[in-house]
Amino acid sequence: MMSNKNDTTAPFEAGEAWEQRYTDNSTRWERGDLNPAFIHWHDEGRFKECKSVIVPGCGRSPEPMAFAQMGMAVSALDFAPTAMAFQKEAFAKAGLTAQIEAADVLTWQPGSPVDALYDQTCLCALTPTVWQDYANQIHRWVKPGGKAFMLFMQTGKEGGPPFHSPLERMQKIFDAARWDWPDAPAFNAEHSSEKVELGVILTRR
Ligand SMILES: C[S@@+](CC[C@H](N)C(=O)[O-])C[C@H]1O[C@@H](n2cnc3c(N)ncnc32)[C@H](O)[C@@H]1O
Repeated sequence: MMSNKNDTTAPFEAGEAWEQRYTDNSTRWERGDLNPAFIHWHDEGRFKECKSVIVPGCGRSPEPMAFAQMGMAVSALDFAPTAMAFQKEAFAKAGLTAQIEAADVLTWQPGSPVDALYDQTCLCALTPTVWQDYANQIHRWVKPGGKAFMLFMQTGKEGGPPFHSPLERMQKIFDAARWDWPDAPAFNAEHSSEKVELGVILTRR
């Protein structure tokens, strides 16, 4: 079943819709390479103090593997079986290990909180009605003082996915009582001719 324009389906149906995007090869969000923001943050040494990371809605992205190659303990989550099978095979081929779990990001819990969270087009894949629940999950997952590496999708359009994630709205969801926002401007990661992701590193209070 393909999702409708507003994708307000229940998690199970939404999972089927995402799975079908993989089996239909309708995955235009995939860059086939590391995100420029990931490379920028890596080169700035922003991941250096992180020993563990959760990558929710990881799909077939290369970042979970890149984190593992840096020696980090990786939890990679997605509810699309094709994406999970891809990650499992890639890790097995590379001789690396990770917790690769078919799970709903809105209900899953880690064994213990982690140093880092890397969100690359997961939040914008969720219907905005559950954004606060998702932000609450991230807050539970990350240790005090830990980092949330967020890529906020900018489409400037109604509807989705991907859903437009303006910074003003994000500042309410990831509120200042629970997260420190950086003074530095967001990193502009071009996604396609129409879309840009704004990379922001939040520090959990
Ligand atoms: C736009 S794709 C991005 C995939 C990956 N992060 C990347 O950059 O290629 C969104 C991903 O989130 C997953 N997803 C959406 N809602 C989810 C949920 N509630 N729980 C787990 N995964 C979810 C989808 O299956 C899909 O793989």
